[in-house]
Amino acid sequence: MKALVYRGPGLKALEERPKPVLQAADDAIVKITKTTICGTDLHILKGDVPTCAPGRILGHEGVGVIDTVGAACTSFKAGDHVLISCISSCGKCDYCRRGMYSHCRSGGWILGHTIDGTQAEYVRIPHADTSLYHLPAGADEEALVMLSDILPTGFECGVLNGKIAPGATVAIVGAGPIGLATLLTAQFYSPSRTIMIDPDENRLGVARRFGATDTINNGKEDAIAKVMALTSGIGVDTAVEAVGVPATFELCQSLVAPGGTIANIGVHGLKADLHLERLWSHNITITTRLVDTVSTPTLLKAVTSKKVDAGSLITHRFALDRILDAYDTFGRAAETHALKVIISP
Ligand SMILES: NC(=O)c1ccc[n+]([C@@H]2O[C@H](COP(=O)([O-])OP(=O)(O)OC[C@H]3O[C@@H](n4cnc5c(N)ncnc54)[C@H](O)[C@@H]3O)[C@@H](O)[C@H]2O)c1
Ligand SMILES: [Zn+2]
Ligand SMILES: [Zn+2]
Repeated sequence: MKALVYRGPGLKALEERPKPVLQAADDAIVKITKTTICGTDLHILKGDVPTCAPGRILGHEGVGVIDTVGAACTSFKAGDHVLISCISSCGKCDYCRRGMYSHCRSGGWILGHTIDGTQAEYVRIPHADTSLYHLPAGADEEALVMLSDILPTGFECGVLNGKIAPGATVAIVGAGPIGLATLLTAQFYSPSRTIMIDPDENRLGVARRFGATDTINNGKEDAIAKVMALTSGIGVDTAVEAVGVPATFELCQSLVAPGGTIANIGVHGLKADLHLERLWSHNITITTRLVDTVSTPTLLKAVTSKKVDAGSLITHRFALDRILDAYDTFGRAAETHALKVIISP
């Protein structure tokens, strides 16, 4: 089968690889029908994720059809249409029992990281009963790919951890797919202001269409001064970091109001400064989280009932043969205006 393989920092190739086989009784093999590329795949290619070894098939998002299941898999059978979660969970270990699937003792974020991923014709899914979801009949496959990672990530790491509440003021730093997924799911709670901050003018335009009340181009404007002007000089109740560089985590520290929350989502490859000399007395909360995907069943209902227009994040489509072009388009988003690219084998 064809697969996109990480070959070390800066290197990737479309290669011919053997079709995966069942390794454990609770595995399933899924034939991929749609997959996509994540900002985290770009972090891996930059060398920010050293736990991902060269030779790994990338990708942790997708939908597909069950090809084969192991003897212990009871909830799925060959032919079932499924959503793949970016987080694999056994459902039985201490972390899973606490709902913290991201730290499952034999799962977590392993797909396209420490085991082969979804940017291929087939993928092996461990703990299939608790890591896959049945797709409702007639579901929009492309829209549901957004549920593998970005919608639960924006919702759990940004909205829930950020304690976004009715009437709250919110700043989201980074208007990539994750920042935009945070913006879409923040609206469940009716915040009074959602301020989107990004140097990419096109993405700010998308954010306004998705309901941002204000946008700031911090490549041209002073984001701190503008947020203070919009919030009577106190800052925002919730500042969401959706980029993953030190500058944006530090910017959030200047935007958060006393009593507020900084919800970090970004994957960081470098250390960042924490300004306790100023913030020690501000009663703030800082949260970090690897998405658990505990909200997937809820979000699946929100997407299928069209409360969230997940498909609106999709800008480009490619065949798996052209996945290198898909990476090129996704990696040059400022020029190509790419948000999520759909890849179909
Ligand atoms: N915590 C988790 O579980 C989890 C899950 C998925 C993704 N992530 C991470 O979330 C982050 C965002 O993902 P994405 O797919 O949206 O990435 P992306 O690269 O597509 O988008 C990042 C956005 O940040 C903007 N940006 C860059 N520098 C900026 C600055 N100084 N100020 C404001 N904006 C700036 C870019 O213009 C871009 O629009 C990444 O770090 C990704 O790895 C985390
Ligand atoms: Zn991802
Ligand atoms: Zn577990």
